[in-house]
Parts: sequence; structure tokens; C-alpha cells
Amino acid sequence: MTAAITRRDYSGVADLAPLLRFTQYNWTPDSRWHLGDIAWEFSFAPGGGPHERMAFWERNGEIVGFGWLTLPATLALMVDPRLADGLVDEVVDWATGLAGQPVAVGVLETEAALIAPLVRAGRTASLPDHFFLNLQRELSDLPPVPELPAGFTVRPLADDELPARAALHRTVWNPRLTDEVYAGLASRWPYRREFDRVAVAPNGELAAYILGWYDDVNRVGEFEPVGTLPEYRRLGLSRALGISLLHAWRDAGGRRALVYARGDDGYPVPRQVYAALGFRVHGRIVRYRLP
Ligand SMILES: CC(C)(COP(=O)(O)OP(=O)(O)OC[C@H]1O[C@@H](n2cnc3c(N)ncnc32)[C@H](O)[C@@H]1OP(=O)(O)O)[C@@H](O)C(=O)NCCC(=O)NCCS
Repeated sequence: MTAAITRRDYSGVADLAPLLRFTQYNWTPDSRWHLGDIAWEFSFAPGGGPHERMAFWERNGEIVGFGWLTLPATLALMVDPRLADGLVDEVVDWATGLAGQPVAVGVLETEAALIAPLVRAGRTASLPDHFFLNLQRELSDLPPVPELPAGFTVRPLADDELPARAALHRTVWNPRLTDEVYAGLASRWPYRREFDRVAVAPNGELAAYILGWYDDVNRVGEFEPVGTLPEYRRLGLSRALGISLLHAWRDAGGRRALVYARGDDGYPVPRQVYAALGFRVHGRIVRYRLP
């Protein structure tokens, strides 16, 4: 007899490691979610944010599905593809009930096992105005790390540089990333200091970074995120950092790298940077909804 599948709510930060392990277990090149996406997305609120509702589906104590509703009505999901028939509908029904309205389900267009039940239920795909590409490259044919402008170096972050690294991210991007958030992220698996790389200017300033997340089971790394201070852009720092990180993953046994970038014309630069690093489009994130 097949064991029953039961649902339980995500219970806080203690559930992050099981979620990451499920992501890793589920990963294929065609998956929307890599370890790095989850580690990064959850760095701000590892226990879940106020607009998020999350639940696991389990069988015999093993996670077989995860639903992640962002209110008002956007659903992300991970489901063991062998159980997708049935379980996808269950996750969508759970989210619809909580949202009190039909939800938009985001998937990578390569996730055939998840898409089939969505289509069977009458949903159709559309591309949001701001959409993301999944870009990938193999690690078998890496170019050498290019030479940097005079006086610049590229290296892993040092132990005492976490606050400076958090400040660099804030300047490039996002004032929400506090020193505490960064210290928390850096204290948890799967963060590894050797894959948190910075470019240092001749005056000692941290000028650019790439945060790399390496899945050593599937041998695939992800860049998330990437940034260069405005005054140091177009010097080749991101390129040198990226290639040095690809080498570091290959040296660790890696076979593949991936990164997400906006695919619409509203924000084209990152995908051009990654194209210059040899990444090619593997798929787009699309949304399935009822007509
Ligand atoms: C994206 C970003 C990290 C690029 O950093 P960078 O250090 O300036 O990039 P590089 O100098 O290494 O550029 C490498 C190549 O990418 C392409 N590229 C970089 N910036 C570009 C631009 N503004 N327009 C077109 N192509 C560009 C070029 O092919 C470039 O090579 P070239 O200068 O020899 O032509 C930087 O613009 C940035 O921090 N942007 C804001 C944050 C962000 O969007 N991060 C990415 C998403 S996580």
C-alpha cells in the first residue's frame, strides 16, 4: 500500500535546512529552484516573511513537495516529479484556498512534469512584463581568468570582511541587506567563504562581488547575486570574478553553472554580462493561470 501524503506548515528557521536538502534532492538542469536561490531568497527572513505562506507535503517522513505562496496570489512550488500527478493540484488547491482567489503559478518552462497538471486543469502560460531567464554553461571549457586592470585583485572574502561585504551589496543594490542578515546567511549551510568572491581596488576598497552557491551533490554552482560599484563598472571586474568562480567550482568537482537574469528589455545588462561569460539561455520563468 502506498503511504499517505500529509501536509504541514513551514515552521520557521529550523525548516530551512530540510527545504534546502529537498531542493538539492529535486534538482535537475530543468528545475526552477537551485540551492542558491533558496539560500539567498530566505536570507532576509529564514523563518518566512509576513506575506508568505509555506507548507511541506511529506510521505514516510520525507518531504515530497513544497508550496510557497506570496500574498496576494503568486505560488512557487517544488514537487517530486514522480508524484506530480495529483500533488501539483493539491499544492495549487492549498494556495488557492489561502489566497481566496486563483493563483498564478510560476515555473521554469522546462519543468514538464509540473506543467502537465497545470495545463490539464485549464491553465495557460504567460510571460510577466519583467521575466527571468535561466542561463547555464558547462564547466568543461573555461577560458583563463582574464588580467585585471593594474592594482586590482580578485579573491575570496576574508573572515573579517563580512560587514564590508554587506555594505558593498547595499551600495550596489539593496538597503535591506543588513550586517545581521549577511552574518546569518554566512553562518548557514550552504554558504562557503571560498565561493563568496570580491574584486579589490588598488586603494583597498571592495569594488565588486559575486556570491556563489555550490551544490556538491549535483555538482552545479549558481551566481546569486552579482554586483560592481558604479565607479568601477566596465573594467572587466565582473567578468574576472565570474571566471575565477567558475574555475573554483570546477576545481571542487563542479560540472555546470547557472544564473538567473532578466530576459525583458527593461534590464538587459546582466544577461549581456553572463552571455560574455559563456552562459546560454536554458529556459524562461513563466506563469500559469486560469483564463
Ligand atoms: C551587472 C554588473 C555586475 C556588471 O559588472 P561590470 O564589472 O561592470 O561588468 P564587466 O566590466 O566585467 O563586463 C563584462 C562584459 O559584460 C558586458 N557588459 C557589461 N556592462 C554592460 C553594459 N552596461 N552594457 C552592455 N554590455 C555590458 C560587456 O560584454 C562587458 O565586456 P566589455 O566591457 O569588454 O564589452 C554591474 O553592471 C552591476 O553591478 N549592476 C547592478 C547590479 C546587477 O544588476 N547585478 C546583476 C544581477 S544579480
